[in-house]
Amino acid sequence: MSRSALIAITMARKPVSEGSIAENAVEHGTGPINIEATRIPATDGYQKAWDRPVSTNIGGGTYIHGTQVVTDLSSYRPSGRWPANLVVQHTPSCRDGVCDPSCAVADLDGQDIDNRPGSEFFLNLPSDGSNALPDALIAYLRCMVTIEGGSCLVIRDLEESDLSRFPPDHHHAAIVRGEPTPEQAVDLLRTLRPGGHLFVAAPEHRPTGHVGACRVEDAGFEVRDCILWVRDAGHVHYVAKASTAEREAGLAHLPEKMFAPSGGAQNALAAADEEGAGDEAEYGGEGDLGFNRITRRKNVHPTIKPKGLMARLLRTVPSDRGPVLDPFMGSGTTMISCLETGHDGIGIEREAEYLEIADARVRHWNTAVAAWDAARIESEHVPTTTESTEVDLNDFLGL
Ligand SMILES: C[S@@+](CC[C@H](N)C(=O)[O-])C[C@H]1O[C@@H](n2cnc3c(N)ncnc32)[C@H](O)[C@@H]1O
Repeated sequence: MSRSALIAITMARKPVSEGSIAENAVEHGTGPINIEATRIPATDGYQKAWDRPVSTNIGGGTYIHGTQVVTDLSSYRPSGRWPANLVVQHTPSCRDGVCDPSCAVADLDGQDIDNRPGSEFFLNLPSDGSNALPDALIAYLRCMVTIEGGSCLVIRDLEESDLSRFPPDHHHAAIVRGEPTPEQAVDLLRTLRPGGHLFVAAPEHRPTGHVGACRVEDAGFEVRDCILWVRDAGHVHYVAKASTAEREAGLAHLPEKMFAPSGGAQNALAAADEEGAGDEAEYGGEGDLGFNRITRRKNVHPTIKPKGLMARLLRTVPSDRGPVLDPFMGSGTTMISCLETGHDGIGIEREAEYLEIADARVRHWNTAVAAWDAARIESEHVPTTTESTEVDLNDFLGL
């Protein structure tokens, strides 16, 4: 069987049965992710970023029940970076520290990330020369979702596996390989304890795992994440996430709004919104926020792509075969990249708030990037106010 370079591993969770993840962990031994045990080791001073107290950092005042909250992390020393969504594996012919030219690890090492070899930022695995899910990866995933002593069902090939024999509400976690049938997905849900995690590694013939992901979701799992396992000849192109300058260019005229990237901070904001509270309101309790900081932003879209990534993808498509359609335009990154690559583009966005942001960003980059050769922009959106179109002469002349 041919060997696909990339295999998607869907990470899903059976819904918890208790009021919170912590209560679920006490009751069933499941629910949380063991982040500390599965960090990617780092020895480059990365830890220093934590060597200071952090506040929840709302510009102009951080208010949780009226007082500024500072989470003191000065004694906290993480052993490395967050667990990564990317797993890179050497080829069978990599030996004694010398990699085969097709090796995914070497490919990433050839790309500089913050002046370091790229693969250091992700989980690296040796080759075991087989198509099977590596033992080391199974051990890593298991460690991520089971508290010590927890039982983990491992099935290396789902095809023909009868899962109906496993007892209900029994396993703390499951790691399986293949494309679950609808019946197998239901059996997996049944045998896991509430809050139990499931990893489904896609089969060789359908490496994106999308069918399996849909089936586990249909069975009642919450699909929470995807981990990519990249093997030999798997080329990885690293693009850093969009910087603040890139995200907010062209938005000087828009108001700043509260923004919570994820987790507890998002819940805290939502709770405050529900109470009809304004900007200066109280935001939940300290425990709700965790390490997630609430910030103020002009571009409040939650999933902004870097324009370098979209431009790279667009360059693989001819620009003279018609416009690029982005029916889910968000804050407009794909349209901005079209300006850079010379593609025509049509962007559609449902949310008025994001449309305003996309419109202003695209207009900004149109002037900043193309200057006198700017593209014609037609938009159904009428901007409330627009940024001045004055261009700094130095920027204009590239000085
Ligand atoms: C993943 S985001 C796109 C992010 C974008 N690539 C960027 O860099 O900002 C998907 C967007 O699709 C929008 N959306 C969802 N359903 C839609 C629909 N039916 N029609 C138009 N837009 C929709 C959402 O509001 C969201 O902004």
